[in-house]
Amino acid sequence: MRDYWRSEPLRCLIGREEIAAVVEELAGRISSDYQGEVGIEEPLLMVGILKGAATFLSDIVRAIPLPTALDFMAVSSYGASTTSSGVVRILHDLGSSIEGRHVIIVEDIVDTGLTLQYLQQHLAGRGPASLRVCALLDKPDRREVEVEIDYCGRQVPDEFLVGYGLDLDERYRDLPFVAVIESEGEETT
Ligand code: PRP
Repeated sequence: MRDYWRSEPLRCLIGREEIAAVVEELAGRISSDYQGEVGIEEPLLMVGILKGAATFLSDIVRAIPLPTALDFMAVSSYGASTTSSGVVRILHDLGSSIEGRHVIIVEDIVDTGLTLQYLQQHLAGRGPASLRVCALLDKPDRREVEVEIDYCGRQVPDEFLVGYGLDLDERYRDLPFVAVIESEGEETT
């Protein structure tokens, strides 16, 4: 590993090959579900939630052999002390209307579910033809509100994860695998 990756002790949780396999599997399911539903005129709109989902989104769209279009949203988190209020502020909105479009929200991870719940409710109100969710990781132990994930890559334990888009103070997003930050003395990788 490059040296800067070692400023905290890391344990690889989901390696590069496994991530690639998960991406292929999810892309295959999406492709078969939307075959015949989308086309060049009306591509499948993949909406990445910045910043964490950018890596996953860029990989999965290249594995879907259907016409896709990309857009992004950035939202503020609701604040560490807030529990179930789920108030999320839109910092960057979509570039165009989603009315009548087939839309998939793409997330790197679903944790409490508050961000996703807000986005689902908000985007459903804009009249898409369909609205589904694709998340690479799901941390069910942390869930505070019920949300449906149509395309879920892997369930993960309640540990601090970094890599493949996930950060610690903006670091480690470029790590090509998902890792757990270990307590000092527990490093195994
Ligand atoms: C992460 C992740 C989701 C959200 C999930 O984003 O990308 O958007 O948190 O958490 P929740 O289920 O508890 O709402 P974060 O706020 O860390 O921003 P980032 O993607 O820019 O790192």
